[in-house]
Amino acid sequence: MKSRRRVSLLQSLSKWDCSDLKEFTVVSKSPENTLKLGINIGSVSKPGDVICLEGKLGTGKTVFVNGIARGLGFNGPVRSPTFIIINLIPEIRLCHVDAYRLDDSEALISLGIEEFLDGDWICVVEWAEKVSEALPEERLWVRIGFTEVDSQRKIAFFPSELWLERIEKIRKQVGNEY
Ligand SMILES: Nc1ncnc2c1ncn2[C@@H]1O[C@H](COP(=O)(O)OP(=O)(O)O)[C@@H](O)[C@H]1O
Ligand SMILES: [Mg+2]
Repeated sequence: MKSRRRVSLLQSLSKWDCSDLKEFTVVSKSPENTLKLGINIGSVSKPGDVICLEGKLGTGKTVFVNGIARGLGFNGPVRSPTFIIINLIPEIRLCHVDAYRLDDSEALISLGIEEFLDGDWICVVEWAEKVSEALPEERLWVRIGFTEVDSQRKIAFFPSELWLERIEKIRKQVGNEY
């Protein structure tokens, strides 16, 4: 486990060295827009995927996760697991993490996240920027930010290799809607 941790630390050091990866940015005009984008992502997600959500409190990370769950076929509400940190939705093999209360990557590893990164689960991590070293390099990074308009959010997708084709497809689908 120690060596694996070292490898993932090394990987994360080089993770921003991905200048060839395409960035795709959209402006969401409403919570429904953000939900819909999440549905788009959920409907192309599969076990083994890791989706990292970066953004301040209230930007819409949990709204987006609700969309992902919906896209995977789950219709119940999904809440931020702020106090329990890791919430599992076994019906859709979704592991939903909220790292808000964690100090660092080590804290997430101590909670046993590696068990859910082994390929059987889809992991979605809110506040991923706090624990990025505990997460694999192959991932979809999503950055959500406020804009000057209350009901709008800027959502940027940074796909790793495994996500390029899927994001390109979604970009074409939603390109004209936002
Ligand atoms: N365009 C938008 N996309 C997502 N949420 C929005 C948007 N505009 C307003 N909101 C509101 O922002 C809040 C986002 O809450 P939440 O998803 O819990 O944020 P986070 O998980 O990032 O802390 C919700 O109350 C939602 O209605
Ligand atoms: Mg949240």
